[in-house]
This record gives sequence, structure tokens and C-alpha cells, in this order.
Amino acid sequence: MRTQVAIIGSGPSGLLLGQLLTEAGVENVILDRVDKDYILGRVRAGVLEEGTVGLLDQAKAGARMHAEGLPHDGFSLAFDGRDHRIDLFGLTGGKRVMIYGQTELTRDLMDRRKKSGALTIYEAADVQPHEFDRQLPYLTYDKDGTTHRLYCDFIAGCDGFHGASRKAVPEKSLCAFEKVYPFGWLGILAEVPPVSHELIYANHPRGFALCSMRSQTRSRYYIQCPLDERIENWGDVRFWDELRRRLPAHHADAVRTAPSFEKSIAPLRSFVAEPMRFNRLFLVGDAAHIVPPTGAKGLNLAASDVYYLFKGLIEHYQEGSNAGIDAYSEHALSRVWKAVRFSWWMTTMLHRFPDTSDFDQKIQEAELDYLTHSRAAATALAENYVGLAY
Ligand code: FAD
Ligand code: DHB
Repeated sequence: MRTQVAIIGSGPSGLLLGQLLTEAGVENVILDRVDKDYILGRVRAGVLEEGTVGLLDQAKAGARMHAEGLPHDGFSLAFDGRDHRIDLFGLTGGKRVMIYGQTELTRDLMDRRKKSGALTIYEAADVQPHEFDRQLPYLTYDKDGTTHRLYCDFIAGCDGFHGASRKAVPEKSLCAFEKVYPFGWLGILAEVPPVSHELIYANHPRGFALCSMRSQTRSRYYIQCPLDERIENWGDVRFWDELRRRLPAHHADAVRTAPSFEKSIAPLRSFVAEPMRFNRLFLVGDAAHIVPPTGAKGLNLAASDVYYLFKGLIEHYQEGSNAGIDAYSEHALSRVWKAVRFSWWMTTMLHRFPDTSDFDQKIQEAELDYLTHSRAAATALAENYVGLAY
């Protein structure tokens, strides 16, 4: 089989790239090692930047998001028993974010792909990129007891942090930067109205907490937990009690509870692999970088990578120019590192670190105090949270 762009991974980055290419008339095939239902069963991000929303519209997959998503103009920073609102809209000259779950966005892109007739091969085992430093690269994969070959012009590695694309790059060609944080996030989903109409990021002596949502009737809550925490130790009652302890009293009193229907622990890590292009192989999204979730940037960075790669591929196919492809890694990484910095900063400001000294604690308090009293400081936070320009 032959296609123009072979895409490894049917997560948000692979699906978005695939749909933008299909709409622009560039042939592509997506392969994933798991099936559709498994992908749709993963609960992950929930906050979309305007740039991400625009790309979903361009991919003609934005209709349900506009109908059901919740535009948010601000969020709350809670600490020291009080609340401070960050007015995203006012501080950024009218920008906002969209609350819409990654699961729903993925479903919309899958539906759109199905309608457009483009091919996705699910349950493709042992996908491997080959000869991407040559003129005619190809993928091999196992399916139905046979090893298949897919020849292509380019390979997009959209296969997440543990995928095959980055592993296929010779170690000497790749430079990795990593920071592992000494805690994780325990998250739940429950069918209850959110505690507040906007998100609450809470700094508390017992640890960080985040109140988010998926709709007016479905809440997503997270609490900081030790890295070695076991999910079996967290019955719902314990979770709700701990969440309430970490919120200012007026919010704690308003928390509505119900049995959770999803519960998971995610470790926190910053990771960047450089460069993001190896001749005809491109790393996209989590395959190239991971950020701690505190700044809500993981999914949005995957989308901005797609923007740069799509632009480069279109220039190649429609104008015969490789300028965009050649600039992909540099442009994507420049935006990636700013989001890595922002996510690290938000994480550092809002979490309790096991080895925090009195000095570190005072600095954290000063940072929060500065944010609540300086419009310039709040503006810098807001500008990053809504998403830097592409
Ligand atoms: P992925 O979503 O990981 O998709 C990769 C796809 O590739 C998957 O479908 C996978 O099955 C497939 N794949 C993997 N290996 C292979 C292979 N060898 N062959 C073929 N296919 C393969 N971000 C936020 O902003 N907020 C959050 O709250 C948040 N929570 C998260 C919680 C968890 C547990 C994780 C892991 C991530 C979270 N993120 C969050 C990050 C965000 O979800 C990711 O940044 C986003 O999913 C990246 O999309 P992607 O398409 O690049 O990668
Ligand atoms: C969600 C996750 C985040 O990491 C974040 O910063 C905000 C919201 C969420 O899952 O809703």
C-alpha cells in the first residue's frame, strides 16, 4: 500500500493532522495499536486554547464543541482560605478558553474522518518506521497474522510518549531534557454539577487541588498525591473529604458529591526531545514532549505542533516548497519550550513539594501575593494560559 503521509497514532494529534490533510486533499493513513473504544475510554485533558478551537473548525470537526463546550472567561486561584479570580478575557484583550473533554474532541475527529472516507487501521501491532532518512520511507505493522508495508512520502509520529516513532530515532541524533516531579494527580469524574462555574486551582498546605468540569452536570476533580499512592486506597468518601479540606470554606461547603465513575493517577513530568524532525519522520505532540498538566497545555501543544507540520506539508504539496518542513522543528520547539516553562512555573507555584524549605514556602507565598496585586503579573499568567500566538 502507498499513501502520501503515514500517521502513527490515532490520538488528538494524529486525528487532527489527518483531518486537516484530508480536507486539503492530501492522502493519509492513520495506524494505531489499540482499538477505537480503548482510545475513547481514556479520560485526559479538558481545556482548549482558541488556536486549538480554530484548528478543529478548520478540520470541520468543531460543530459539537461549539454547541456543547463551555467558553470560560476566567478561573480562580484559591489559597490562604480565599479566592482570586484571573480575568482571562479582560487581561488578554478578549481571549477565552473552551472547556471540552479530550474524549469528545477525539470522538468528533474520528466521526469526521469516517465521513470523509479516510483510512484508519486500528489494532496494528508492532508499527515500525523504516528508511525515513531516504527518499521512500515506509512503515511495517502486523495485522491479522501478516506483516504489512505502507510506503509514503512522510511519516508523522503522533504516537504519544511511549510510542514507536521516537524510539526509532538513533539515540545519538536525539537530545532529551527531563524533569520528574515528586508527586502525581489523582483525578475523578462524577455526575454532579461543578462546585463553581469556573475552574478553581487551589494551593493548600495539604497539597494542590483542581476543580474542573466537563459539562454543567459533570465534574472533574484532581488532588495532588504521593507518587507511590495506590488507587485502591482512595474510596470516593476519602476523595471527597480530602478535596473539601483543600478548598476555601465557601467552596468546600458547595461541593456536591456522587459515586465517581472514573478514577486514575497520573505522574507529573516535563520532557522534551530535540529535534522534532529526522528527515522524513516528524515527532508530533506527546511523542516529542510532555508537560505536567497544571497549565492545561499538553493537548494544546499537540495542536500547535500539528499547525506547523500541516502548514509545512501543504507548502510542500501545493507550492513545491520545503521551507515549512525545514522550519518545523525550530518553530514547534520555540512554542513548546514556552509552554514547558509555564507548566513548570504553575506546578511549582501551586503544589507542595516534599522537601520544601521555609525559604521555598515564603517564595511561593510571595509569588501568589504578587499575582493577586500586580496586573502585569496576572497578565503574564493569562497570556500564557489562553495560549501564545502560533
Ligand atoms: P496521545 O493522546 O497519547 O495519542 C497517541 C496515540 O498513539 C494513542 O492512541 C496510542 O494508542 C497510539 N500509539 C502509541 N504507541 C503506538 C504504537 N507503537 N503504534 C501505534 N500507535 C501507537 N493534558 C492536559 O492538558 N490536561 C490534562 O488533564 C491531562 N491529563 C492527562 C492524563 C494522562 C494520564 C496522560 C497520559 C496525559 C494527560 N494530558 C493532559 C496530556 C494530553 O492528554 C496529551 O498531551 C495529549 O493526549 C497528546 O495527544 P497525542 O495525540 O500527541 O498523544
Ligand atoms: C483539566 C485538566 C488540567 O490539567 C487543567 O489544568 C485544567 C483542567 C481537566 O481535565 O478538566
